[in-house]
Amino acid sequence: MNNQIIVAIDGYSSCGKSTLAKALAKKLHFIYVDSGAMYRAVALYFLRHKIDLKDHDKIAEALKNIHLNFHSRDYETHITLNGEEVSEEIRQMHVAESVSAVAAIREVRLEMVKQQQRMGQTKSIVMDGRDIGTAVFPDATVKFFMTADPKIRAERRYKELLPKNPQITLEEVFENLAHRDYQDTTRIESPLVRADDAIILDNTDLTPGEQLLFALSRVEPFL
Ligand code: DC
Repeated sequence: MNNQIIVAIDGYSSCGKSTLAKALAKKLHFIYVDSGAMYRAVALYFLRHKIDLKDHDKIAEALKNIHLNFHSRDYETHITLNGEEVSEEIRQMHVAESVSAVAAIREVRLEMVKQQQRMGQTKSIVMDGRDIGTAVFPDATVKFFMTADPKIRAERRYKELLPKNPQITLEEVFENLAHRDYQDTTRIESPLVRADDAIILDNTDLTPGEQLLFALSRVEPFL
């Protein structure tokens, strides 16, 4: 392979973006980047340091002290925040509850987008998120926009969270998803929106295997 390929996967929360992105990256031997993990790690830092989300000076200062790194093992997301592995903690509900507000902050987005663009400078990459095809890589080789029935999404996320959060209820997960969808689509900075040239993938009734085949068929012409 001598041409660099960028695959952008955007869509709503819990639509299976990362499952597809990982499988695609693995199959094609591309780098996989979970951009949501970066926003979650920033949200975790802000929570731990009690950063007031309205204090833009504090936010700018905090961003200078945040160093994120990915360590890809088996295409699973391993992210470190200032050297500490936080991959598990960023999936907890307390982070999920605050991350949309953090991801809506202009300074945070500018810094994350800069770092994400740097990751796609040399190697072929699959990146998933909310603004990958619109803001991070507007010239991506192939763009997908994923969606699925909100009830199905909540059930999938609930099953994922239950083992580590036994007290959680399906209603809570549904509410959290609805809230994040609302915040992600209505925020002023890079709201979640389908890029005009993104291929819609509604996976309500598709298995992960079927989604992978569909995505591969769209990327393979560029290999
Ligand atoms: O994909 P996720 O659920 O891990 O994303 C966590 C949050 O970060 C979610 O509220 C949306 C936000 N996000 C974003 O604004 N832009 C991205 N590129 C990725 C995630």
